[in-house]
Amino acid sequence: AQAEDWTGRRLLVTAGPTREPIDPVRFITNHSSGKMGYAIAEAARKRGAVVTLISGPTSLDAPAGVEVIPCQRASEMRDRVLERFGECDVLVMTAAVGDFAPADIHKEKIKKSGDQPLLLNLQPTPDILKEVAAHKTHQTVVGFAAESENVVQSALGKLQRKHLDLIVANDISAPGIGFQSDFNQVQLIRGADAIEVLPRLTKREVAGILLDRIRDLMPPARGS
Ligand code: C5P
Repeated sequence: AQAEDWTGRRLLVTAGPTREPIDPVRFITNHSSGKMGYAIAEAARKRGAVVTLISGPTSLDAPAGVEVIPCQRASEMRDRVLERFGECDVLVMTAAVGDFAPADIHKEKIKKSGDQPLLLNLQPTPDILKEVAAHKTHQTVVGFAAESENVVQSALGKLQRKHLDLIVANDISAPGIGFQSDFNQVQLIRGADAIEVLPRLTKREVAGILLDRIRDLMPPARGS
């Protein structure tokens, strides 16, 4: 329906969880399925965009015509995003980047010793969007915010702190949406008085509307 309105645009999308190793057999991750990011990548490709998808571990198939760059750790996702950011027009960061990673990764499998508890020393991971902001030239940058309380206030804080053009907020305490689900109910937030509340929709439908709004935010394509 929207034809090829993203033709010539280069979209970088991140999706899925990150995975932080503890030792050769164990890791820390989260419930992200990657569905929202994959839906955006697929929809943008169909509308003519050149799409690169930087993906943490998911069980999803690569969308047709999309370059998929796999990664695991948050630091790896950061490196891949920074490598590709300069050559994109839009970054949409749907990935659920883990906030903490083990400070040191054990080379051998950690052995249980009797009833001894195991203490893990976790360090904060890099904030990818904050780092990206320092390299921003012409790009439109969109973040996601999964919140369980004070949804709008928290998302507005992230919009500012991370220097975003748009943030997509959802309430993860609401049943039947969000993580793992095929549905999502989001608010598109550009500022305290620029909030669009969408109804409960499929992630594919949310992707379509989001791509409409981002298209309207982008500077005109070069050569058009
Ligand atoms: O985790 P948080 O709610 O701050 O995430 C909001 C946005 O920031 C998301 O778009 C997420 O992909 C991004 N993020 C990031 N680097 C992190 C954590 C989150 O870029 N370390």
